[in-house]
Amino acid sequence: MDTIIRKLTASPDDEDIYQQAAQIIRRGGLVAFPTETVYGLGADGMSEDAARKIYAAKGRPTDNPLILHIADRKDLERITDKVTEDADKLMKCFWPGPLTLIFEKRKEVPYGITGGLETVAVRMPSHPAIRELIRRSGTAIAAPSANTSGRPSPTMAEHVWEDMAGKIDMLIDGGSVGIGLESTIVDMTVDPPMLLRPGYITVPMLKRVIEQLQIDPSLMEEAAPGVKPKAPGMKYRHYAPKAELTIVEGDLDKAAEEIERLAEEKRRQGYRTGIIATEETRKFYHGGDVRIIGTRQDEETIARHLFAVLREFDELGTQYIFSEAFSQQDLGQAIMNRLLKAAGHQIIRL
Ligand code: TXA
Ligand code: MG
Repeated sequence: MDTIIRKLTASPDDEDIYQQAAQIIRRGGLVAFPTETVYGLGADGMSEDAARKIYAAKGRPTDNPLILHIADRKDLERITDKVTEDADKLMKCFWPGPLTLIFEKRKEVPYGITGGLETVAVRMPSHPAIRELIRRSGTAIAAPSANTSGRPSPTMAEHVWEDMAGKIDMLIDGGSVGIGLESTIVDMTVDPPMLLRPGYITVPMLKRVIEQLQIDPSLMEEAAPGVKPKAPGMKYRHYAPKAELTIVEGDLDKAAEEIERLAEEKRRQGYRTGIIATEETRKFYHGGDVRIIGTRQDEETIARHLFAVLREFDELGTQYIFSEAFSQQDLGQAIMNRLLKAAGHQIIRL
């Protein structure tokens, strides 16, 4: 199939782009678009057939459910009958925005979207492009991240094009996304509610609203055999670069010295190496491909660049990547959750 690519211009010309995209969604096709977190790959969320196309384009296991994206609070009425007081408070605080909530589903929501579960994930994004598209399509839009299953999530239209050209009907190019990590997920069907995936809405932010919030114990650890994470998608080795990635954790100077030593050793053996560094540590590294991911003074810069750096190493043909570790407080928890997954939990603690 030919994939149409159209660039948003923040002018009245965009009108035509949204019309065309909404028509594709209404006819059961696939459109990729920017959201505030990562690029999404959308289809009509109330259609079993449209859902099937998403799984095919991504090569995604069908037991890994999709998130339904809505534009207005009333859109939730078609999806669930059960909105708890806690859910109501979270929505008032964080919607529209990068927070996904799990509800019991109504029977209208197809099992093809929920991976056969009786529950459904819902998010109200804040990015104007996806909000326009939802409103004009007149349906909830089911959308996973717009990457091939197992690759880092796309944070620029170019990433989507790499993975999806020829497999989807249309790509809306809205430039780089703002956050760069997928939404926070909280399960509202258990009491107290449980964090299933850390994101831009952090644990302290959530606890200000729900003091009793539980945290899925499998979040930051390698899943023990037989222990399933509550969000089915979290069991897969996500965000994986082609290279072998090792995280080195410890006192910053010592960790940097160890990374430099490990990378040099690999280079001596003839391998291509990559280092994920920060502004604070660039002075420690002298060989191979060094990428500055952001500054420790502002973790948002690190979140925004993580997936793009992993993709860049894939393109360079890097064979061994070494990364510094980040604090697991606040946004650092989401950054480390993605980094640990990308590393298959390979971490050296000094
Ligand atoms: O920021 C985001 O959430 C992006 C943008 C496009 O909105 N979307 C996204 O979707 O990250 P995806 O498919 O890559 O991740 C959805 C996650 C998976 O880990 C999945 O297992 C979990 O949500 N999930 C979906 N429905 C669920 C349910 N009913 N119960 C538990 N986990 C669920
Ligand atoms: Mg994903």
